[in-house]
Amino acid sequence: MTRVYDEDLNAGFATRAVHAGQRPDPSTGAIMTPVYLTSTYAQDGLGQNKGYEYARGKNPTREALERNVAALEGGTHGFAYSSGMGCLDSIMKLFQAGDHFVCAENMYGGTPRLFDRILSCFGLRFTYVDPRSTEQMEDAIVAETKAILLETPTNPMMRLTDLAAVGEVAARRGVMLIVDNTFATPVFQRPFEHGAHIVYHSSTKYLNGHSDMVGGIAVVRDNALAERMQFILNAAGAVPGPFDSWLVLRGTKTLHLRMAAHDANGRRVARHLADMLGEERVIYPGLPSHPQHDLAKRQMSGFGGMISVEVGSRETAARILERLRVFTLAESLGGVESLVCHPATMTHASVPLERRQSIGITDGLIRFSVGVEDIDDLLTDLDDAFRSELRAQRSEVAAR
Ligand SMILES: Cc1ncc(COP(=O)(O)O)c(C=O)c1O
Repeated sequence: MTRVYDEDLNAGFATRAVHAGQRPDPSTGAIMTPVYLTSTYAQDGLGQNKGYEYARGKNPTREALERNVAALEGGTHGFAYSSGMGCLDSIMKLFQAGDHFVCAENMYGGTPRLFDRILSCFGLRFTYVDPRSTEQMEDAIVAETKAILLETPTNPMMRLTDLAAVGEVAARRGVMLIVDNTFATPVFQRPFEHGAHIVYHSSTKYLNGHSDMVGGIAVVRDNALAERMQFILNAAGAVPGPFDSWLVLRGTKTLHLRMAAHDANGRRVARHLADMLGEERVIYPGLPSHPQHDLAKRQMSGFGGMISVEVGSRETAARILERLRVFTLAESLGGVESLVCHPATMTHASVPLERRQSIGITDGLIRFSVGVEDIDDLLTDLDDAFRSELRAQRSEVAAR
């Protein structure tokens, strides 16, 4: 299993981002971690090897990434996977039939799909609760509960969980706390400091940051748990290739810089949309109108670039999406380029209609992933798309 280099944990965040887990290549001095394109390793004799036997279990490029992200999260061991969902699926293999989980009701749509349509067939049980209520989370714990599983802010409703409060509940009730930190990243939020046992990511998103691969990564800080994670990683084998690992490693070097830019643009875009449409329509933890703005300020050091907006109907959403030029209509988020999506028919289409509606994922909801382009170009793009819609709505009202 891949353990951080302890000395990396003494460095500041930006230094960790650039250097953690990476040392000049011992054979050539290459500064950048080589892409070790190999499936196997020569052995000197029976039972004698250089620490590497077969690349499903270990690959040096992947190890550098695992050490890097483990250091960024402030954990001790990292485990990289071939996708965010592959990562979560491997985490869930820590458990067995009969185990129960308390989950945030509004997570990325693929998460409840994995739980309800696959893992429930293997005897795992899930209860979904409002992640804003620590009380509801605690009340849902039963004798068989093994973990609380959540995402904060949630995708796409931007609801927050009080990590310190839920971390205290998890510790007191003897259950694990598993946190998807994809949206906030370790730049803005550190779940381990609030008692999390496993922090995981879709590294497809901000960690990679350039929309050119799919991956996942989990971090823990307990040796026994790390050993079980490594056993599952090798036994189940949902590992990333070395080039994808290298792409994420290249991405994390600039994570702090990119997140600062996403955050600066995110705040401006959210303010602009709120001024144009009214604050009640714009869901962004950085706006004082967000009902959990105080919690956001307390547990996050930035708010990032994810913003959801309620535009009223699927037809209005479709027209706005067609007019946007700099924001591209696409699934995914967290890349340097600005994207926009329609959760009800895209990222959250697999969530049953009733649950979607009960958590506010309406047909009129659109979600922005604000990139790092020039802010003026982003605001002009939004003006062009929304102002003509607002004008059309006003003339329709006048004509009635
Ligand atoms: C918050 C969050 N977690 C997990 C995932 C799943 O990750 P992947 O698409 O890399 O499998 C996603 C994907 O959008 C996500 O947004």
